[in-house]
Amino acid sequence: MRIFLDTANLEEIRQAAAWGVVSGVTTNPSLMAKEKGADFQETIREICSLIDGPISAEVTALDTEGMIAQARDQAKWHRNVVIKVPITPAGLGATKVLSAEGISTNLTLCFSTNQALLAAAAGATYVSPFLGRLDDIGHDGIAVVAEIVSVYKNYGLRTQVIAASIRHPLHVVAAAKAGAHIATIPYKVLTQMVEHPLTKNGLDRFMADWASRK
Ligand code: G3P
Repeated sequence: MRIFLDTANLEEIRQAAAWGVVSGVTTNPSLMAKEKGADFQETIREICSLIDGPISAEVTALDTEGMIAQARDQAKWHRNVVIKVPITPAGLGATKVLSAEGISTNLTLCFSTNQALLAAAAGATYVSPFLGRLDDIGHDGIAVVAEIVSVYKNYGLRTQVIAASIRHPLHVVAAAKAGAHIATIPYKVLTQMVEHPLTKNGLDRFMADWASRK
């Protein structure tokens, strides 16, 4: 399973890039809004310079033509830009056109296997089931991810599944066990993934022993 970072914060992306484990980034309008005053295009271009992999930038138009116009513009910002499109009738229509033009898409706000089937039928490159938000309302988010992976396999569908709305390290493990191609992870969760008390204690002891040698 590939690891993407789910943030528009350049400092977080710089830090994570140095680990060498992140192969893409996803942003959305809410994540952009957290970066007060940041220009959207400049931010996406900067992210593209930090991580050489798929970088999702979301459209904000709600109609097909508006989405297509925004997507064509955003796709010119950098060769790695992936257009994030909401799964709505308008979004599916835009995805069909963009896919025919060779523009990569990430169908977002996916909460069901039916939506994921439609995303694949429209030619989506990626689909992003939001497992944390499903858990929030008492549904089993990871079961939806697993079901999407399973039905895609049944038909050899090439759309890749990005487990999104990840809230804690166990979500990452569950996404990997479910067969998600990618998990897009907040920076905080990425740092939690590397931590283990036995690693810290073990390293402290190695260092103390090393310092005490004759
Ligand atoms: O990429 C969008 C998705 O990961 C949102 O996560 O935490 O706002 O539900 P969250």
